[in-house]
Amino acid sequence: MTGRNTVGVGMIGHAFMGKTHSIGYRDVAVIAPLDVPRPRLKAIYGRDTARLEEARERYGWERAVSDWKEIIDDPDIQLVDNVGPNSIHVEPIIAAALAGKHVYCEKPLAPDATQSFEMWKVAREAGVKHMCAFNYRFFPALQLARQMIQEGELGDIYHFRSNFLVSSSLSENRVKSWRDDKTLAGSGVLGDLGSHHIDISRFLLSSDPVRATAVTGIAVGKAGDQQRIETDDLFAALLTYENGALGVLEASRVAGGNMVTSRIEVDGSRGSIRFSMQNLNELEYAGTDKIWRRINVLRDGDPYQKNWLPPGHPLGWVDTFSHEAMHMLAAIGGLGEIAPIGATFRDGYYCAEVVDAIVRSAAEGATANVTYRNL
Ligand SMILES: NC(=O)c1ccc[n+]([C@@H]2O[C@H](COP(=O)([O-])OP(=O)(O)OC[C@H]3O[C@@H](n4cnc5c(N)ncnc54)[C@H](O)[C@@H]3O)[C@@H](O)[C@H]2O)c1
Repeated sequence: MTGRNTVGVGMIGHAFMGKTHSIGYRDVAVIAPLDVPRPRLKAIYGRDTARLEEARERYGWERAVSDWKEIIDDPDIQLVDNVGPNSIHVEPIIAAALAGKHVYCEKPLAPDATQSFEMWKVAREAGVKHMCAFNYRFFPALQLARQMIQEGELGDIYHFRSNFLVSSSLSENRVKSWRDDKTLAGSGVLGDLGSHHIDISRFLLSSDPVRATAVTGIAVGKAGDQQRIETDDLFAALLTYENGALGVLEASRVAGGNMVTSRIEVDGSRGSIRFSMQNLNELEYAGTDKIWRRINVLRDGDPYQKNWLPPGHPLGWVDTFSHEAMHMLAAIGGLGEIAPIGATFRDGYYCAEVVDAIVRSAAEGATANVTYRNL
C-alpha cells in the first residue's frame, strides 16, 4: 500500500447497511484497479456501545466513536458514509459537506423532499462528490438493460413495471423500529423499497415521472394495536413519465410468502426486458420475434466481471455495494464522475419528490403532479 492514494472514511451507523458498505470497502482492495484510491476505515459511529464495538472489530474500522461530530472534525477523513436511519442522514451529511468532505448516503436521502433538496444544494455548493446509495444501479444486468434501451433495442419505451415484495411485517417476532415512525423514516415501504424502483425507472428510461396516482395502506399495526405503526406497509402507484411512458409500481411488507421478491420489466415498441433479483445475473429479453431469451450478463464486456473472476462466475446482491464503493472512490480519485451510472444527490432528491407526490396522491385520492426544484 505504500505510496498508494488512500481515502479516509468515516461511517455513521453500523447495522444492516453498515455491514454491506463495510464489505464493499473490503472488496475494493481486491477488485478495484490499482489507480482507484483505497479506503482506510478510520471511524465508525453508533449509539449502542457493545454492538458498535463488535461492528468495529468485525468490519475492520480503526476506532469507534459515540459522537458523529468526531467524524466531521477528523482531518484524516475525506469521505463520510451515512448508513444510519433516514432521520439521521440530514444533519451529519450537511455538516460533512460543509467541512469539505465527500458524502455518500443511503437511500432515501432524507425523510422528505425538502430535506433531500437541502442536502443536494449544500453538497453541490460545497463542490464535494455526492452519491446516494441506490445500489440497484450496480447490478450488471440493469446496467446492460439501460445500455440496450439507450441503443434503441427496445424501440420507443411505453411501460415500466415493478414489484418489490417482502413479508417482514408479518413476522411473529416483529419489533417496532424507526421504519414505523413517520418522523424518523418519512414513509414506510414506499421510501424504503419503492424508492429503489422509482430510481431504477429513471435510470433505465432516462426520463422523470411528472404525475403520480397512488394508493398506500397500513395492513398491520393499525391504531389500537400494540404494534401500531405510522408508515405505509404497502403501496401501488401509476406514474406518467416525461417521455410519455407509463409506470406501474408496487411494494409491500405484507406479501405473504415473499421473502425478497424484486422484479422489473420494461416494454418498448421493438422488445421487452425482465429482471428478477432472485436471478440477478440474467436479463430476459424478447425482441420483435417475441421469443424470450436469457442473457447471462457476466460475459466479456461486462464492466464488473473482469474485476472479479473469469466470466460466468455468479455475483450476488451484496456485490453491488462493492461496485458502488469502487465507483465512489474512483470519482474521488478523479477517475470518473458519479453520474450517470451512480445516483447523485440530485437523483436522491428527484426520487424524494416522486415519493412525496405518491404520498400526496394517496392522501388526497387524486393525481398529484411531480415538480422538481433545480439548482
Ligand atoms: N440500499 C439498500 O438496499 C438498503 C437496504 C436496507 C436499508 N437501507 C437504508 O439504509 C439505512 C439504514 O437502514 P438499516 O436497514 O441498515 O438499519 P437497521 O434497521 O438495520 O439499523 C438501524 C440502526 O440504527 C440505530 N438507530 C436508530 N435511531 C438512531 C439514532 N437516532 N441515532 C443513531 N442510531 C440510531 C438502531 O438502533 C439500529 O441499530 C436506511 O436509510 C435504509 O433506508 C438501504
